[in-house]
Amino acid sequence: MGGGTGGFAVRVAERGHRVTVVDPSPDALAILDRRSGETGVADRVTGIQGDLATVPDLVEPGSVDVVLCHGVLEVVDDPEAALASLAGALRPGGTLSLLVSQRHAAVVARAMAGHFRQARDLLEGLLPDGAPRRFTAEETTTLLTGAGFTDVSLHAVRVFSDLVPSSLVDLEPGASAALAALEEAVAGRPEYLTLATQVHALATRA
Ligand SMILES: C[S@@+](CC[C@H](N)C(=O)[O-])C[C@H]1O[C@@H](n2cnc3c(N)ncnc32)[C@H](O)[C@@H]1O
Repeated sequence: MGGGTGGFAVRVAERGHRVTVVDPSPDALAILDRRSGETGVADRVTGIQGDLATVPDLVEPGSVDVVLCHGVLEVVDDPEAALASLAGALRPGGTLSLLVSQRHAAVVARAMAGHFRQARDLLEGLLPDGAPRRFTAEETTTLLTGAGFTDVSLHAVRVFSDLVPSSLVDLEPGASAALAALEEAVAGRPEYLTLATQVHALATRA
């Protein structure tokens, strides 16, 4: 959902799965077509122009095993309705993989850049017109359970990567792999969720 140019879709298709990408952008879908053709998975990848609001018209209700919705909930008008659409597309017991921007990391980033008023507004959940939403870990869980998902597990994503100057990672041999290992080590620790740039949720449709 909002699979864009197919960075994930093609990798999932390469593992043998059939993938449908729903995205409003015709340009992204054209790149998806080209990418899936070049990777030899065109027969397993279908692009459909549409959005979260039109899912019930595009996808047979209760027919999907897994939905990936990464980096999309931030830009929809109504996150509750969007998650209800996704729940409707999934079969009972199906899995949702949801990735959202995490608010507290954005507050810290604004403050560290000297934008203290913006940081304060973001802390209170106030957004300038058109700015993408941010979610706390608690809000993410509440949204998912409210849409009928169970077994919600949260993972911290990009806890350190956006704080460390890239020069430090690029210059030191082995630093990039060590940073990835550190990210992996904290991903499942709840105390790191408030520091994470993104929160990843896995949830089951009841
Ligand atoms: C930040 S990109 C994320 C792309 C991809 N999911 C990823 O993780 O690499 C956001 C995508 O959401 C799509 N999008 C924007 N509004 C949407 C909506 N209302 N419903 C579904 N997709 C939407 C955009 O066209 C874009 O491809």
